[in-house]
Amino acid sequence: MTDLTEPTEVPVKDIGTLRSRAEGSGPTTRRPITIPANRYYSPDFAALETERMWPRVWQLATTVDAVSDPGDWVEFSVGELSAVVLRDQEGTLRAFQNVCMHRGIELCKGSGTGRTELRCGFHRWCWNLDGSLNEIPSRRDFGVIDNDAYGLAPVLVDTWGPLVFINFDTDAMSLATYLGGAPADAAYLEMDDFHCRFEISVKVPSNWKTAADGFSETYHVQGLHPELLKVFADLDNHQIFWDHVGRSRQLYGVPSPRIRPTPSDQEVWEAFASVYSGRAGLDAVNPGPAPAIPDGSTLFDVMAQSVRDAQAEKGVDLSAYDNTQIMMMDQHNVFPNITVLLHPDLLSVLRTRPGDNPDECWLDIFNFDRAGANTARVKPMKMEVPLDSMAFGTVFNQDFDMLRTAQRGLHQPGFTRITLSQEESRILNNQLALERYVGISPSEIEGDLP
Ligand code: FES
Ligand SMILES: [Fe+2]
Repeated sequence: MTDLTEPTEVPVKDIGTLRSRAEGSGPTTRRPITIPANRYYSPDFAALETERMWPRVWQLATTVDAVSDPGDWVEFSVGELSAVVLRDQEGTLRAFQNVCMHRGIELCKGSGTGRTELRCGFHRWCWNLDGSLNEIPSRRDFGVIDNDAYGLAPVLVDTWGPLVFINFDTDAMSLATYLGGAPADAAYLEMDDFHCRFEISVKVPSNWKTAADGFSETYHVQGLHPELLKVFADLDNHQIFWDHVGRSRQLYGVPSPRIRPTPSDQEVWEAFASVYSGRAGLDAVNPGPAPAIPDGSTLFDVMAQSVRDAQAEKGVDLSAYDNTQIMMMDQHNVFPNITVLLHPDLLSVLRTRPGDNPDECWLDIFNFDRAGANTARVKPMKMEVPLDSMAFGTVFNQDFDMLRTAQRGLHQPGFTRITLSQEESRILNNQLALERYVGISPSEIEGDLP
C-alpha cells in the first residue's frame, strides 16, 4: 500500500499573486475547484479523520515557553488522543501517550512544573521522566512484570522556533520533512526569538476545518474586513506551497487597488492605526493627523518607522528589517489545523481542534512577542473564554463573529460542494493533504487545480 503521508507532489508550487494571475491571461477555460461539503459535518468523515489523520500528522501541542525547564509538563488533547509533553531532568524534550500502563487512566491533566516523575494517582504506578518504569506498588502481586514492556508509549516531539509539535505516529516522517521549505522561508524572522505570552481557548460552533479555513485565505478581506483594504494590498499576496504548508506573504501599508478613489494619506494612516495600534504605539481610534512625510520618503516609510520606533522603546530592535519586511506579514497554514502569522515583532498562532461533534471545535490562540533568544522564558498565561467575550481588535473580532454562522449553511440539502478560487488555494492544499491521510483515492476534489 502506498504511504499516503509521503509527499506526492512537487516540493514547491508557486501560484504567484491574484494580480499576476489576472494579468497576461485571456479568457479562462479552467473549471472551478469544488470539494464535497459533507467533509465539514459528516460524523462518518470525522470518524475517518479520527482513525487515519489525527494519529498520523504533526500537530502543535504547546510552546517551548510552557516546557522550558526540567520538570515542566503540558497535557495536550485532540479528540480522543492525548499526550503529555515534558522536559526531563537532563533538559530533553519528550512526549508520551497520556495513559497509565496499569489500567489506562489519563496520567496528567492540565500543565505544571517541578515534576521529577510521572505517578498515577489511582494505584501509584510511577515512571521516570524518560518514560521508563520506576515503581509498581506491591509489584510481586502482579507476577513477573517486564520493565521494558511497561514503559510509557513514546510520541514524536520536535520544535519549529518556539512551537512544540508532536506526532503520535512514531514511524512518521520528520517534522523538518513535513514542514517542507517553510522554516527556511521564515528564517529571516528568527522565530526562536519569540516568547509566548498567552494561550486562549474558545469553543466555537463550527467544524475544526471550517474555522481553520477562515484563516486560510485573504479573499474574504473585501467582504469581512472592508476597512482593511485601505492598508492591505490584497491583490498582491504571494502564495507558495509545500505538501503540508501553504505560505502567503501579505503587504500592509499600501491600499488595495479594489478601493476607488484611492484613499487619502489620512485615511490610510487611520486604517493603519486601527489595525496596528499595538505594533506602532498608536491610538487605534484617534491616531491624530498623519505625520509629515519627509522629502524623499513616503507614508509607507513613515508607518514602518513608527513600528520600528515603538518597538525600540520596548527594547525590541528591528533595525535589521527593512521597511517592506516590517510591513509584511507571512502567514503559514500548516496542515491540518494551524495558522502561523508572522511579523518581525509579532507572532500569533491559531489552532483548531475537534469538539464533541463535527459541528463544534476548539479555537486556540497563542500570542508571542519578540523577547530575544537570550531572555529567560516565563510560563504563558493560559485561559478558556466564551466566544462572546473574545476581544481581539476589529479584524480578529470580525473573523470570530463569522464563525458563529459558518456551519449551519453547510448542512443545507441544496448545498453539496464548496467552491474555491485559486486565491483560496491554502484551503485546497489542506484538503489535498486530508485526502492523502484519510485515503480518498481517486480524489473527490473536482476542477482544474492551479
Ligand atoms: S490505573 Fe494507574 S496505577 Fe492503576
Ligand atoms: Fe479575516
